[in-house]
Amino acid sequence: MSRIKGASKNPLKLVALAAMTFASAVGWAADGEAILNAQCSACHNLAGPAPATLDALWNRKGPDLFYAGNKYQAAWMEKWLQKPTRIRPAGMFYGNHIKPGAKGDEVDATTLVTHPALPATDAKAVTGALMQRKGRSDLVTAGAYVPGTISRSSGEMLFDKFKGCLACHEIEPGYGGLSGPEVYTAAKRLQENYLISYLRNPQAWDPKTFMPNKRLSDTDLQKFVHYLRLLGEEVKP
Ligand code: HEC
Ligand code: HEC
Repeated sequence: MSRIKGASKNPLKLVALAAMTFASAVGWAADGEAILNAQCSACHNLAGPAPATLDALWNRKGPDLFYAGNKYQAAWMEKWLQKPTRIRPAGMFYGNHIKPGAKGDEVDATTLVTHPALPATDAKAVTGALMQRKGRSDLVTAGAYVPGTISRSSGEMLFDKFKGCLACHEIEPGYGGLSGPEVYTAAKRLQENYLISYLRNPQAWDPKTFMPNKRLSDTDLQKFVHYLRLLGEEVKP
């Protein structure tokens, strides 16, 4: 008798546990979606496709997030959403945020938006919902990046002298161009296989982007990601 009791009790417990886990999993995802639609969709494209005209590119209010799960590192995103810092020194499109200064063009900081910050639970829910958006899985290959190293000086030669990337990107705070995102945090923010794919053909991801396709060789693609990782290690957490 006691054996039958026990046997009938356990499966019930299991069912209850499974139902709870299911409910919380669904509730968790639903919250993330609700927050995205209410608080983020005005500035971020959550469903694609990427801007198809220059006009749409200039008027884009925030980075496209419909392939966030192909692009970002979840751990970084969850932290950043709670305490956002500036990544693009001159905003989404520098032409909208530059003013003439004494030594040439300067960033007009008063025109830049302060990014909304989320409480920890919301940041977790939103990160979960965003990481499920994998609208461009067709462009990334698992294992495309093969971990390796490069010296700081060879990396910098490649980034600056040989390929001219420094004209648009900062490799440390205050050093480098301002029209593109800072790259010293790129390896912390972005997935390595995404970096390989994006650097190979930025226009495949974002047809109108100003980021040039430099027709990098496979060897140089790997070297650039080694270098970005090296810069990332030098950044204080
Ligand atoms: C007023 C417009 C605006 C709103 C609202 C907004 N964002 Fe953003 N978001 C931006 C801009 C602009 C950037 C680029 C910041 C930078 O480069 O310094 C950005 C960057 C990001 C990034 C980093 C991605 C990257 O490549 O730089 C994430 C993740 C993000 N936003 C998520 C969200 C979420 C989640 C919400 C809603 C809770 C949200 N944003 C609301 C404008 C906005
Ligand atoms: C003419 C200016 C320009 C040059 C030159 C340039 N970039 Fe970019 N780069 C950009 C812009 C603009 C973006 C996209 C910004 C965005 O998504 O908001 C970008 C994006 C990137 C990203 C992704 C960053 C992120 O946070 O999403 C990386 C990495 C990068 N560039 C590396 C390079 C490398 C390596 C080179 C040299 C081979 C290079 N760039 C040359 C303008 C430039």
